[in-house]
Amino acid sequence: ETIRWTPEMAQKGGYPHFMLKEIHEQPEAVRNTLFEVSDIKKIVSQFPEFKRVTFVACGTSYHASLVGKYLFEGLLGLPTDVILASEFEFSEKAIDPHALVIFISQSGETADTLKALRIANKKAKTLAIVNVLGSTATREADYVIFTRAGPEIGVAATKTYISQLTCIYLLAACMCQDEELLEELQKIPDCMKAVLSLEDEIKEMAGKYKDAQDFFFIGRGFSYPTALEGALKLKEITYIHGEGYAAGELKHGPLALIDDDVPVVAVVPPGKSHDRTLSNVQEVKARGARVIGLGSEDDPVLSSEASDMVEFPHQIPELLSPLLYVVPLQLLAYHISVQRGIDPDKPKNLAKCVTVE
Ligand code: G6P
Repeated sequence: ETIRWTPEMAQKGGYPHFMLKEIHEQPEAVRNTLFEVSDIKKIVSQFPEFKRVTFVACGTSYHASLVGKYLFEGLLGLPTDVILASEFEFSEKAIDPHALVIFISQSGETADTLKALRIANKKAKTLAIVNVLGSTATREADYVIFTRAGPEIGVAATKTYISQLTCIYLLAACMCQDEELLEELQKIPDCMKAVLSLEDEIKEMAGKYKDAQDFFFIGRGFSYPTALEGALKLKEITYIHGEGYAAGELKHGPLALIDDDVPVVAVVPPGKSHDRTLSNVQEVKARGARVIGLGSEDDPVLSSEASDMVEFPHQIPELLSPLLYVVPLQLLAYHISVQRGIDPDKPKNLAKCVTVE
């Protein structure tokens, strides 16, 4: 099945910015990407036996790769590394010939990613997860999976990130033949619509926090990449310093920076990491920080600790939380950007596709 990109699809469709339109297109992007499952099954059936997985990417695609690490190690028990494309040449000698090297790129044209792909092609099997049909990466990798997010105009990646994540979940589920996970993924578009319906609350929250100069975003395990991506979105389009941190690392430095001027966004879904991240929330609160908590609707402890709370349906398992918990962080960055008088579609100094090393 192919999906045609029409000129109408590239218009703003009633939204003030492409970024907001693209955030709201995410349930649809997931639905379209889920159709890739049959192609992914075919690709997986051609795989030789892999001993490890190495992800290579830049920017937001790097954060999708980090989710991939937790997934491939957790579900498949395959040792998994994640390497920034711009750092890949320094690991070149260590590339395992029995590795599957996965390149994630919205554009399929990022110079650092293509350079790394060309190195990896000589050493191991390569797979590109790409949104743009016919892009260079799709022509050079051994295997290709399309993310089917549709065209993304906003410089800050949103729906392509969600589609990349969807592909990674599909790939992991197909590689370990986890039919239950494939079924769970079908529920994501509707859950995501429920999360998007919180936009008014998040817009109001943006008004309270828009004048902060520094933000921290914390999470553990599956929520760590979400924290990094939330911080990146904030930096990209609001020009506020946002730092994503593994919650357990706070005590090794950043805690010294926390006071009542530094809001902390805590990504705390129910599950394995919940209680320990909650104790980090208590630590930053004790130092005066205002906490924006992202957690389950039935988490009274988090909601009593947090100054503001974004509530998610309680049935979302931790494993799938990256697909949903990032959405309010995209909206928060978007609304802070607009309220600071910035055009979120055209952040200064940044480009949609970086074709220089
Ligand atoms: C640029 C864009 C980012 C993107 C990164 C990687 O910096 O502004 O949104 O995440 O490139 O791009 P790619 O096309 O390789 O995913």
